[in-house]
Amino acid sequence: MSTHTVTDYVEDVSPGSGALPPRAWYASSDAKSLSLNGNWRFRLSPTADAEDDSFAEEGYDAGDWAQIAVPGHWVLQDHGSPIYTNHLYPFPVDPPRVPTENPTGDHLRVFDLPQDWPSDGGAVLRFDGVESCARVWLNGTDLGEFKGSRLPHEFAVGHLLKTADNVLAVRVHQWSAGSYLEDQDQWWLPGIFRDVTLLHRPAGAALDFFVHASYDHRAGTGTLRVDSDVDGRVTVSELGIDLATGESVTVPVEPWSAETPRLYEGTLATEGERVPLRIGFRTVELADGLIKVNGRPVLFKGVNRHEWHPERGRALDLATMREDVLLMKRHNVNAVRTSHYPPHPAFLDLCDEFGLWVIDECDLETHGFTEQGWRDNPVDDDRWTPALLDRASRMVERDKNHPSVVIWSLGNEAGTGRGLTAMAEWIRGRDSSRPLHYEGDHGCRDTDMYSRMYADHAEVERIGRGLDGGTLKRRRLPFVLCEYAHAMGNGPGGLADYQRLFESYDRLQGAFVWEWIDHGIAHPELGYAYGGDFGEELHDGNFVCDGLLFPDRRPSPGLLEYKKVIEPVGITGDAGDGTVRITNKQDFAGLSALAFSWSYEVEGEPVESGTLSVPALAPGESADVKLPAPPAGAPAGEALWTVRAVLAADTPWAPKDHLVAWGQVPASQRCLPTVAATARPVPGDGMISLGPGIFDARTGALTAIGDVPVLGLRLDVWRATTDNDDGAPWQSDLRYGLLWRGLGLHRMRHRLDAVETGERTLTVRTRVAPAARELGLSTVYRWTSDGDRLRLTVCTTPEGDWTVPLPRLGIRFGLSTADRVRWFGGGPGEAYPDTRMASTVGSWQSTVDDLQTPYVRPQENGARIDVRWAELGGLRIEGDPAFWLTARRWTTEQLDAATHRTDLAPGTAVWVNLDHRQHGVGSQSCGPGPLPRYHLRAAPAEFSFVFSTAPAPETG
Ligand code: GAL
Repeated sequence: MSTHTVTDYVEDVSPGSGALPPRAWYASSDAKSLSLNGNWRFRLSPTADAEDDSFAEEGYDAGDWAQIAVPGHWVLQDHGSPIYTNHLYPFPVDPPRVPTENPTGDHLRVFDLPQDWPSDGGAVLRFDGVESCARVWLNGTDLGEFKGSRLPHEFAVGHLLKTADNVLAVRVHQWSAGSYLEDQDQWWLPGIFRDVTLLHRPAGAALDFFVHASYDHRAGTGTLRVDSDVDGRVTVSELGIDLATGESVTVPVEPWSAETPRLYEGTLATEGERVPLRIGFRTVELADGLIKVNGRPVLFKGVNRHEWHPERGRALDLATMREDVLLMKRHNVNAVRTSHYPPHPAFLDLCDEFGLWVIDECDLETHGFTEQGWRDNPVDDDRWTPALLDRASRMVERDKNHPSVVIWSLGNEAGTGRGLTAMAEWIRGRDSSRPLHYEGDHGCRDTDMYSRMYADHAEVERIGRGLDGGTLKRRRLPFVLCEYAHAMGNGPGGLADYQRLFESYDRLQGAFVWEWIDHGIAHPELGYAYGGDFGEELHDGNFVCDGLLFPDRRPSPGLLEYKKVIEPVGITGDAGDGTVRITNKQDFAGLSALAFSWSYEVEGEPVESGTLSVPALAPGESADVKLPAPPAGAPAGEALWTVRAVLAADTPWAPKDHLVAWGQVPASQRCLPTVAATARPVPGDGMISLGPGIFDARTGALTAIGDVPVLGLRLDVWRATTDNDDGAPWQSDLRYGLLWRGLGLHRMRHRLDAVETGERTLTVRTRVAPAARELGLSTVYRWTSDGDRLRLTVCTTPEGDWTVPLPRLGIRFGLSTADRVRWFGGGPGEAYPDTRMASTVGSWQSTVDDLQTPYVRPQENGARIDVRWAELGGLRIEGDPAFWLTARRWTTEQLDAATHRTDLAPGTAVWVNLDHRQHGVGSQSCGPGPLPRYHLRAAPAEFSFVFSTAPAPETG
C-alpha cells in the first residue's frame, strides 16, 4: 500500500467516514454493554505513516508493546510530552496540512464477549472521545476514521464480532486537520481519553430519541412528547403517563430548574429495549429581551469548566465529575459553560440531577488564525462546513435530552463566518427550544444573546443601561459575560463590583468566571507543572493555571470569594436600628431550605447565639428582620452580630448545616489601642532601650522587644507580583507589576538620615528610594512606650513624581521563631482590597505554614485583612488602624524569584509584613486591573502598631 493513501484522512477537512449518524447518549436498562476501558497495548510512532496497519490484523503479536490505560493520554503516561499553548498553533499554519512529525499511537485490545452476550441483534462500538483523529479496525476490518476529539463516534460492528479474541485496533494521530478546529487554550493531549464501549443493539432497540418536556408556568403543567426513531411507549408512572412515542400529553408537574432540579423517572420502551428517561420539565425562551426559564429571567452565577485532573488530564472519572458538581453547588455556583467542548456526557447527567444551568459548547476554536488577521479561517471556508456541521450535530444529538442544557454554544474564539452561520441554522432547525450563544459574534448575527469576555465594569454598566450601541438586533438582546474575572493566581479581584451590576440591570443576566480549575500537571520535581516545563518550543507558561480550584481541587480563596459574592441570600445591615435585611436572591426557590441563626460575638468570641426567624420570601423579596437585644452582661470589647443561613436539612449536594450565606453587622465600635508615652529612651552600650524595645544606637534599628529578637524592621512597599499585577502581554492597560519593577520598587534602599532621642520618643528618619530614580518615600519611625508596650508610628511622605500606585505600604521584620498565629480580624483566609467579601471578622488561628496560599506559580498571597491584633513569635501586635498581616518562612524576594512551589525552602526566620494598605488585585492577567478605588496611591500616610511580648504558646 502507498504511504500516501494510508494517511490521507489525517489532513482531510472532512469529519471522517464510516461512523454512524450521531444520536442521544443513554444507557439502556436491559441491552448489554461491555466496557473496553482498561489496559491496552500501545506503540508510539513519530509520524502518521511510520508503521503500516498490519497491527490491526488478527493474530498480530503485540507482546512487546507497552501498555497504556484507556481512557488516557499517552503523553501523561510516559510516552512523549504535553504541550501547552494558549492560542498559538504549535505547528505551522497551513490548513489543512499538519507536520510530518505527527506522534501516532497505535492502540490494541483483544477482548472476548461475555458469556451472556446475546447472539442476536447488532452491536455498536462507541468512542466518547479521542484526540485528535482516529482510524479504527475490528478483527482486521477497517471501520473508518473520525475527527472531533470531544465528541462521540459510533460504528456498527455486530456483523464482525466473534465470541472470543476480537481484535480492536485504533490508530490515533496527535495532529490532523481537526486540530485546526481545536485550538482551545489548554494542553494538547492526544489519546483515547474517554470511554470505549461495545453496546449490544437488540432487534427493535431504540435508536435515537428526543425528549420534549416543556413547562407552562401559567398553568403549572408540563407537556411531554418523546420523538423516537423507533416507535415505542413512554411511561412516567409518577405522573400516570403512558403514551406512544410522537404523541404528547399535558399534566400538572413540578418544573425543573437549577434551584429545584425536579426530575421524573420514566421509560421509553421499544420492542427491543427499555431506556430509562430522566425528565425535567422546563421551558427556555427569549422574551422581553431576556432569557427566561419557566417564565422567569435567570441570573447565571457561572464558571467555565474545562475537564481537568492533575494526573489524568482530560480523562475524568465519574468521581471527579461528581466532585466538580458538588463543589460548584457548595459554592453557590448555579451555571456552567462547558468551555470549550461538550464534556463527558455523564457530567450532564450530574447537572440534571443536582441542578446547574449549562451552556453546552461545541468542540470548536480556531483562535490561532487571529495571528494572520483571521485569513483562511476554517469557519469562513465552505470546504470546512461539513466538519463544522458534523461537530454541531454530534453535540446537539448527544446532549439534547438534558434539561440542564439551556443554551447551545457554537464554540469559542473562532472568528465569524459562513460555517458558523450554517451551524446556527442547523441547530435552530433541529432544536428550536434553546437559545444560541457564541461570543465571537459581536453583531449577534447568529446568536440569541450578546456575549462578551473580560469587559470591564464600566463597559458592563453601559451595556446594562443599554448605552453600548451595536446592531439593532444586539440592542434588543440580553447580555452574558461568558468569561470574566480571570482567576489566575491571586485573585480575581472586583467580583463584588461586577455582581452589583448584574443585580442592578435586568439585561445583565450574569457571568461565568474564567475558569474552574488550574490545569497544573502533577510533577515529581516541580509540584505542578505548567507551560514550558516539558521543554515546549512555544508555550504560554502558567496561563494554564487560572482556576478557582488548585489542581488538586482544593478551593482557592477566589472560589470562597465567589461563593460569598454570589450567595443566594443577601444578609446586610448596620448596627443602628438592630435589624438585618434579608433578601432572597434566587430566581425560583423560596427560603424554606434554609435555617437562619444569629450569633453575638465580642472580640471574635461567640457570647450568645440563637435562631433567627425569617419570613417566607419569594425570589427577589426582602424583609427587615429584628435582631434580639444584645445579651446582658456581655464582656467588654468590640462586638458584632453574625447572621448565617445554613441548609435546614441534608440535600443531595451538602449536609444539613452547610453554610450557604452570611452577613456581619457591627454592634459596637473598636477601641483603638493607646499607649501613654511615659517611658524614656535609655542609652546603653551601643544600644538604646525604650520600654521593652531595644534599638541599635547608631542605626536606630529595633533589635528586640523584651526577649524576642527582631530582625530588619523597616518600611516595605514591595510584593512578589501576582499574575494580575504583571498582566498579560496584550493588555492595553497599565501593567503595574512591570512598571513597579521598572522603577525598582523591588530593590528599595533605606538611607538613614537621623536617629533622634527625645524626652519620651525615639525618632528614626530615613528616605526609602530605588537606585537610578529621583522618587522616594521620606519615612519617619517614631517610637514611644509606657514601659510595657512599645508603639511605633510610621509616617511616610512620597517625594518626586509618583505616577504609579504602590504595591503595598507597611513594615516588615523577621522573627527567629514563630509557628502558631492567633489574630482577631478578617479570616480565615486571605483577602486583598478587592477580594475581601469572604473575609469574616473573628478570632482565628493558624500555623505560619497554613497561612500560605499554594498558588501554582508563587506570588504575593496569604494576607489577612482588618487585623485588630495578632500574636505570633512571642509578640502581640495591635494596629491603629487595623492592618493586613502576612507571615511566611521566606522573604518576599525569595517568593518573587520562585517559579514553582518547590523553589520555596523555609529559612531560619519567619518574615512578617504588617501592612497599612495593599494595592488591589484585579484580574489583569486577562481582564481589567483593579478599579481605581482599590489603587494604593502614593500619598502621605501615618499608621501605628503597638507591640508587647505575648504569652502566645509556641507549641502545637
Ligand atoms: C479567553 C479564552 C479562554 C482562555 C481565556 C484566558 O480568551 O476564551 O479559552 O484562553 O481567554 O485564560
